[in-house]
Amino acid sequence: MPAPTYLTQHQNRFLEELIDWLRIPSVSADPKFHGDVLKAADYLRDRLAEAGATNVEICPTAGNPIVYGEYMAGPDRPTVLVYGHYDVQPADPYELWTSPPFEPVIKDGKIYARGACDDKGQVYMHVKALEMMLREGGAGAPCNIKFMFEGEEEIGSNNLEIFVRANKEKLQADVILISDTGILANDVPSIEVGLRGLSYHEVTVTGPNRDLHSGLYGGAVQNPINALCAMIASLHDENGHITIPGFYDNVDELSAEERAEMAKAPFSEEEFKKSIGLPDSYGEKGYSSMERTSIRPTLDVNGIWGGYTGEGAKTVIASQAHAKISMRLVPHQTSAEITALFQQHFSRIAPAGVTVEVRPHHGGEPVVTPTNSVAYKAAADAMETTFGKRPVPTRGGGSIPIVAMFKTELGLDSVLLGFGLDSDAIHSPNEHFGVFNFLKGIETIPEFYREYAAAR
Ligand code: BES
Ligand code: MN
Ligand code: MN
Repeated sequence: MPAPTYLTQHQNRFLEELIDWLRIPSVSADPKFHGDVLKAADYLRDRLAEAGATNVEICPTAGNPIVYGEYMAGPDRPTVLVYGHYDVQPADPYELWTSPPFEPVIKDGKIYARGACDDKGQVYMHVKALEMMLREGGAGAPCNIKFMFEGEEEIGSNNLEIFVRANKEKLQADVILISDTGILANDVPSIEVGLRGLSYHEVTVTGPNRDLHSGLYGGAVQNPINALCAMIASLHDENGHITIPGFYDNVDELSAEERAEMAKAPFSEEEFKKSIGLPDSYGEKGYSSMERTSIRPTLDVNGIWGGYTGEGAKTVIASQAHAKISMRLVPHQTSAEITALFQQHFSRIAPAGVTVEVRPHHGGEPVVTPTNSVAYKAAADAMETTFGKRPVPTRGGGSIPIVAMFKTELGLDSVLLGFGLDSDAIHSPNEHFGVFNFLKGIETIPEFYREYAAAR
């Protein structure tokens, strides 16, 4: 039997520490959790310092603080800036969780809790990888490492952007390393090399100056809810194309070769449908499900409300109808361009009898990261070592707007060394993270530093 490694010896403690952290509901979207957000930041700072990081500090911002720390290997060594987020999505609706979101449990080899995968579990892999590099054999890490963990990723990273602009010197590095994405399957390692951008809006359609009796007035006034539904329905045509004029103008169309290359990644349409309980998949004509969720832009309603939704029936025509509508963007669309197109179009398609207001929320730019860089190769080599299989590059469907910002503000590319699975239910009830994935991350991260330092 091989001698137990540091990881196998300490994995139970690593899991317990993560679970203690997951107990703190660091929900950034809801002010009532603000105290817990601060507690989660303190917990992270303390664990990072214990693991051996230096200059560990809580950097205040106008919003939630940034946790920062360093490990300095020497001036001749490359520097890696590790980014992640300790804030989590709201856990609602609580009643759909099989165990409470902030009382973590390990079931069937998975840690169930809000933030288990997105992103506290993945941030914690970096903290424990540091501990392991410093304690196991005592050799330390072969790279300089700067850790920067924010508490506002799920609400748009506005204050991180300000922090980055103000601290370019401090954050100087050769590459950025982020674990906040996923792999295709536990036996199909992959590295995301693209993220979609985002343009997000809240729309309000206003009709009569008050809610009306639908018998006395019905038929003679435009109903704002009917109007909103018709407007939304018109945003796609029968082929699933988005109808906003100019929407596709700057979309980067992949070549037949690139699409053929993408299609080689193992993806089962049947599994995809089964995993979310659907009889059929749906989307833009001419593209596969894999393409629809990665290289193609989308438009979705994220919420819609108005009128009477309580018990029983109320015969009413509401004065207002509301919806949240977001678009995922791909290179070379920009959020500013798409936001302007959406605002114009949505106001223009309003039928007579109502007025429309479009309020843009935060946006984000799409990115594609290089696959021919030293850092990408180091990540691929590291995964090949720990998974026993060469990872495939994939284009992801999610958004991490700060990645494009790192490129423009710091001039740095990111490597998305994530270990989650699409089935981890991030943002949904019963979010979880495989113990396998957590440990695989801790094992792979030091390999990345080794490969990266050796190649530079
Ligand atoms: N970590 C996710 C993004 C993600 C998940 C990318 C899985 C690729 C694979 C991130 O925390 C997130 O949820 N981003 C938001 C955007 C943000 C501005 C709220 C998203 O994608 O909706
Ligand atoms: Mn995340
Ligand atoms: Mn998220």
